[in-house]
Amino acid sequence: MTPFKASQSKALSGSIAIPGDKSISHRALMFGAMAVGETVIEGLLEGEDVLSTAEAMRKLGAKVERDGDGRWHVWGRGVGGLIEPDDVLDMGNAGTAARLIMGIVASHGFTTFMTGDASLRSRPMERVVTPLKQIGAGFVARSGDRLPLAVLGAKSPLPLAYELPVASAQVKSAVLLAGLNAPGETRVIEPVPCRDHTELMLKHFGADVTVEEREDGGRLVRLKGQPELTGRSVIVPGDPSSAAFPLVAALLVPGSEVTIANVGLNPLRTGLMTTLQEMGADIEYVNQRTEAGEPVADLVARGSRLKGVEVPPERAPSMIDEYPILAIAAALAEGQTTMTGIGELRVKESDRLAAMAEGLTACGVEVEAGDDWMTVTGTAGQAPKGGATVATRLDHRLAMSFLTMGLVSEALVEVDDVTPVDTSFPGFVDLMSGLGADLRPA
Ligand code: S3P
Repeated sequence: MTPFKASQSKALSGSIAIPGDKSISHRALMFGAMAVGETVIEGLLEGEDVLSTAEAMRKLGAKVERDGDGRWHVWGRGVGGLIEPDDVLDMGNAGTAARLIMGIVASHGFTTFMTGDASLRSRPMERVVTPLKQIGAGFVARSGDRLPLAVLGAKSPLPLAYELPVASAQVKSAVLLAGLNAPGETRVIEPVPCRDHTELMLKHFGADVTVEEREDGGRLVRLKGQPELTGRSVIVPGDPSSAAFPLVAALLVPGSEVTIANVGLNPLRTGLMTTLQEMGADIEYVNQRTEAGEPVADLVARGSRLKGVEVPPERAPSMIDEYPILAIAAALAEGQTTMTGIGELRVKESDRLAAMAEGLTACGVEVEAGDDWMTVTGTAGQAPKGGATVATRLDHRLAMSFLTMGLVSEALVEVDDVTPVDTSFPGFVDLMSGLGADLRPA
């Protein structure tokens, strides 16, 4: 445990580049491992979650190396060509990696053991176990289908037509990845569109994937099984979910002006930007471009007076990881911010709904929360009391959210452990300190 504290800071200024997108980094390594030939990845996030995926791909038989210039190279084994790992896959804190890899190995006729840290071992896996059983895989798991578990991969996997019961890109991806090594067509219906990096990258590697928009607002994704995937070059944009922290910090600390370069702006990831702009945030998009099929821009954020808004439930999938930092922005806004349809926050790296409500209350902010909603009453720009120590609960985004809170609170805010930040945002403390944020060991 490494406790850390954040104190009220003067205007933030400067220009930063944030690390690569976590969702895209996991997928680039996985797809490279299932492609024929070499995949070269630029800008891979070198956070612990993604390093767990790299190690898992090695254990499944792919060659994965980093060169001296920071590029990653993967030599894959072709679709269906992975080999039985001779040891347990330890996925650490990485829920996305665990669930997507369960999909991959579910259609390989061998047995895979998987575990993770205390946070990951407490997260529900039934949402992927249920569809993957239907393709023919077996599972031996703890109660509630939790890790550690063993996947008994299907020798003759079946293609599946599956309607997602929860809006989850992880479940959609697990089913599609299992379908890669099944004959025929795998179909997934998503009632609400979720991030589509799997679909985009499968196409980039040569798979036949089509996406139909449905009249009810949902989507039907079809994948033709057993394609030949070919090694590609992948350029990973900066992670909008990481950019969210310096972005909100710049908006909240009066007089700030911060440029965040190279931020991925896939429209299924930009719910936070939309919400902040509705709140009155001064965010400018410059140098807008498309890189490797993903929209990218540099963001300029300036200190802003925010007002409370209602965040509609259908926006949740496009900002699901950003509610903790949005709650901090809401704490300084004028009036109330209400977030509904956010029950999924209870099964992330921690129960984020409970943790945010508890931490904000401890910092003197008025919060009400229910099963799947939260209302935060803002201070209209007045510094909240702060002065609390918040438990990180092995959750990187809680740690970064409350350290951001400390930058605008009267008394310093402490988190009991800063180390989980390295799962998604290595270098967070140095980068924020470079902008003028007062962050230090407690
Ligand atoms: C992710 C999907 C999201 C998100 C996670 C990354 C992905 O989970 O919370 O951090 O890369 O597919 P769900 O889609 O399960 O909500």
